[in-house]
Amino acid sequence: MPEQLLDDQPQNPPGPPQQAVAAPDLVVSTRGLTKQYGGLTALHELDLDVPRGSIFGIIGPNGAGKSTAFGILATLLKPTSGVATVCGHNPGKHPKEVRKAMGYMPDVMGVYERLRVDEYLEFHAAAYKVPRREWPDLIDGLLELVDLDVKRSAMVDDLSRGMKQRLSLARAMVHDPELLILDEPASGLDPRARIEFRELLLQLQQMGKSILISSHILAELQQMCSDIAVIEAGRLLASGPPAAILEQLGTGRQVEVRFAGGQVAQYPAADEAEQAALLRRLVSEGREVVEFKLIKQDLEDLFLQITKGIVQ
Ligand SMILES: Nc1ncnc2c1ncn2[C@@H]1O[C@H](COP(=O)(O)OP(=O)(O)OP(=O)(O)O)[C@@H](O)[C@H]1O
Ligand SMILES: [Mg+2]
Repeated sequence: MPEQLLDDQPQNPPGPPQQAVAAPDLVVSTRGLTKQYGGLTALHELDLDVPRGSIFGIIGPNGAGKSTAFGILATLLKPTSGVATVCGHNPGKHPKEVRKAMGYMPDVMGVYERLRVDEYLEFHAAAYKVPRREWPDLIDGLLELVDLDVKRSAMVDDLSRGMKQRLSLARAMVHDPELLILDEPASGLDPRARIEFRELLLQLQQMGKSILISSHILAELQQMCSDIAVIEAGRLLASGPPAAILEQLGTGRQVEVRFAGGQVAQYPAADEAEQAALLRRLVSEGREVVEFKLIKQDLEDLFLQITKGIVQ
């Protein structure tokens, strides 16, 4: 990772000081995080709290500001204003500490011509100052974890796209960081590889890692994320556990009832008490209920409901 920040816009110009949040139970926290590229506000006062140990998903349409936010957290971009705390450190002020504690997988992998897979990981292990005697075990372990041991002697450029992504994840882990920031890590993976990737992330979570992940594959995030944040045009639209967000929207719970004779009707029922009351009422009215089921909304519905399709 480069030592210098990639852009040199002034950080936090004069104004009221913002409070950095360095709570021990949060692995990432941002307050008022704003990034402008010229006249375009790519991030607008983003407040984000990522609980330690969580798999936290960021969802947003193209151009929402996900990669910009990740770039700031990964020390590669300076915010125009606002503060961020990553693993207890400010990425703008203490980039070395942040880079030690976090592994970043960008959405595009750099080109590393003429390097073998194992050399590529050695190169990064050296960059992170992992002692040379630890390399063989480290690289064996990482290649096994991302299921690339058969490709250890292949040239990086000869790997398939999905394999490159798995290698990029292994690279993000060479220094055993407590936080992984993964920018669309599953794009380009085939269905089996996606399922395996999800299993891998859950395994990493069990190993004690915190994971911040962006994706467009919404159903996938729903299956593994404890919390999600929905952003659009640089603004946070909703955040929390997917089920809680659905609940907040008030459209989370609908019950579908099928009556004898084939008639089907839908009723709103916010919680279990309302569902039970609905069933009691229908039965007491003499209706012949043959099926009574909760209609589950998924993240796909949630995403379409919350975002408006704004493109800047
Ligand atoms: N270096 C840059 N210079 C100018 N504008 C930029 C730059 N990087 C990003 N932007 C703009 O900032 C906005 C947010 O871009 P960003 O890449 O953060 O979105 P994203 O949510 O990651 O999108 P995607 O889902 O397509 O990856 C976009 O309007 C984009 O055009
Ligand atoms: Mg992006």
